[in-house]
Amino acid sequence: MEWTESTEVKNILGLQLPTDPRWVDLAAVSLEDILTDHAYCEQKAATTCISLIQKYSDRVLLVKELSPIVTEEWGHFRLVLQELHKRGLSFGKQRKDEYVNQLIAFQKKGGNPEERLLDHLLTMAMIEARSCERFKRLSEGLPDEYLRQFYRRFMESEAGHYKLFIELAEHYVDKEKVRKRWAEWLEEEARIINNLTVRGDRIH
Ligand SMILES: [Fe+2]
Ligand SMILES: [Fe+2]
Repeated sequence: MEWTESTEVKNILGLQLPTDPRWVDLAAVSLEDILTDHAYCEQKAATTCISLIQKYSDRVLLVKELSPIVTEEWGHFRLVLQELHKRGLSFGKQRKDEYVNQLIAFQKKGGNPEERLLDHLLTMAMIEARSCERFKRLSEGLPDEYLRQFYRRFMESEAGHYKLFIELAEHYVDKEKVRKRWAEWLEEEARIINNLTVRGDRIH
């Protein structure tokens, strides 16, 4: 998706709760941690797309559309890793991802295969949407001009991924069902964000 000046993150992504404004300042002083965490987020985006391709190998459009996303997310991981090295910072250990774990806990475990597919796709759309919003904050609030540009590119890319996951959901599931379930996801995600401590060492 092409990012235009008139594109407002809030309107497109429908997030119910904006990021606490203190977050970007905390992130700015925890660069090694935030870049490390970001690198793992990109890794997980790539590996989750691979898992979805394996799980839904019979869904032609899903396999076709997610295959290049794997490459793109891995490319993102490499860019972040390069940024760490360039700055003489270390790629640290992977942390427990409370945000993503809580989203996964919200997925319907039983139910029919269509509902499970829908929740898999909406979980990805949700993470892309919030990541996009966080990258927007970084692209506006970091003191380093180079990093602001760096994060603007990620913001645009993740907005496109958000759109793709919603479109895939609408391809496989009735649009009205997607809309209703997405509204539930947005509400749950706001609750999760509201209960998480604001920390500068993680993207979410
Ligand atoms: Fe990414
Ligand atoms: Fe993404």
